[in-house]
Amino acid sequence: MNKEAIFLLIRGGHIIDPSQSIDQIGDLLIAEGKILQAGGTVPLSKAQNLDATGLVVCPGFIDLHCHLREPGFEDKETIATGTKAAAIGGFTTVCCMANTEPPLDTPAAVDWVKQKASRDSLVAVLPIGCITKGRKGEELTNMSELAEAGVLAFSDDGDPVTSSQLMRRAMEYSRDLGLPIIDHCEDKTLSDNGIINEGQMSAQLGIKGIPAAAEEAMVARDLILAKRTNARLHIAHASTKGSVELIRHAKEEGISVTVEVTPHHLTLTEERIMGKASNEPFDTNAKVNPPLRTKEDVQALIKGLTGGVIDAIATDHAPHTLADKNCGLELAAFGISGFETAFGCLMSLVHQGEISLTRLISKLTCEPAKVIGRNGELGTLKAGTPANITILDPDREWVVNSSSFASKGKNTPYDGYKFKGKVMATIVSGRIVYIDDSLLSPALSLERRGHK
Ligand code: DOR
Repeated sequence: MNKEAIFLLIRGGHIIDPSQSIDQIGDLLIAEGKILQAGGTVPLSKAQNLDATGLVVCPGFIDLHCHLREPGFEDKETIATGTKAAAIGGFTTVCCMANTEPPLDTPAAVDWVKQKASRDSLVAVLPIGCITKGRKGEELTNMSELAEAGVLAFSDDGDPVTSSQLMRRAMEYSRDLGLPIIDHCEDKTLSDNGIINEGQMSAQLGIKGIPAAAEEAMVARDLILAKRTNARLHIAHASTKGSVELIRHAKEEGISVTVEVTPHHLTLTEERIMGKASNEPFDTNAKVNPPLRTKEDVQALIKGLTGGVIDAIATDHAPHTLADKNCGLELAAFGISGFETAFGCLMSLVHQGEISLTRLISKLTCEPAKVIGRNGELGTLKAGTPANITILDPDREWVVNSSSFASKGKNTPYDGYKFKGKVMATIVSGRIVYIDDSLLSPALSLERRGHK
């Protein structure tokens, strides 16, 4: 960990960079934190060497949506623990949500996060500013001051902006500032304190459901507002087939909209809420907002991803304390700790033949970079850009053990799951911030040489 080298040579890896259509076995040379050469053969030099034979070398992952919880909820996560978890997950840039305490609704709060991140963070942290003061949905923040303070987007995530009038104004300001609105789409009169997906299962169990319409009604409203204002709208955590359809139509119409989907909405269905033991009827770790949906929704999300309607995969990493989850389903907090399982669970889609590895990598690298207007600089292995790199073993099997998470949030529905596909190293601006022990072991290094 934390090895700094002026020159670093990553040798013999399978380089996949969808931003430049690179797909070849070759070397990657880093000098002074920047990429010097990606592909071809670099003669062995005095540079520090990393043997990537049998591994995939790609641009560092970018997460458009996570909750680092600091300031205010340090019992759930801190910038230090959250970004350590992000590094283990292969993320080199993370965009952190504004639902902290205080919320990121003033330049001072945004500055505080930037300062703290510059001291504590292992990866790049880009803060998102609130749309409304205190995230109360009543009065707009001074969006232009927040933009000057360096936010990359605006969002009240965790809560919707209920007032259409306020959202329309927010879109007008965000358009003029050239930044997107990241939209938590939820009509609260429809979700109405629901807990799981509304459908046959919620009816059978007698648990209050959250209908698909709670999301779709808000997606539809905000697509109309984006069309009328010409604002750039990014839909957070889409979870229903209907949302994918609405966004597909909107894109065909030329509305400036992008959308993300989470790893859990792509790989789990509503049934996952059922506990494994009879004395624990439900698994609160699968309680998330929006809720896990039906098989049909999951299939539509996967199709949206492969067909190009869905732009990016974002974790919505939402760490909580044991106490927040170790309670009845009704009281339990919504959210999944997602950094450390994201790639492993997404690889199940690759192994099942649902999506190609290259497409998956694009949804974690150049596509999210485009959403925040940072393509060309992030999510690419172009020479001269910061050396943000993720090294993957698509075939490495491992078992999720939440108690060993770097994140304070052990709240994962994947605990005990066996995954095939693992992040082996993460490099931020030329600095190795995470490396799997086996990469340092000569024995395993040799074993990998026979690897396809
Ligand atoms: O499940 C969720 N948890 N969804 C959200 O929108 C917010 C998040 C959180 O902050 O815990």
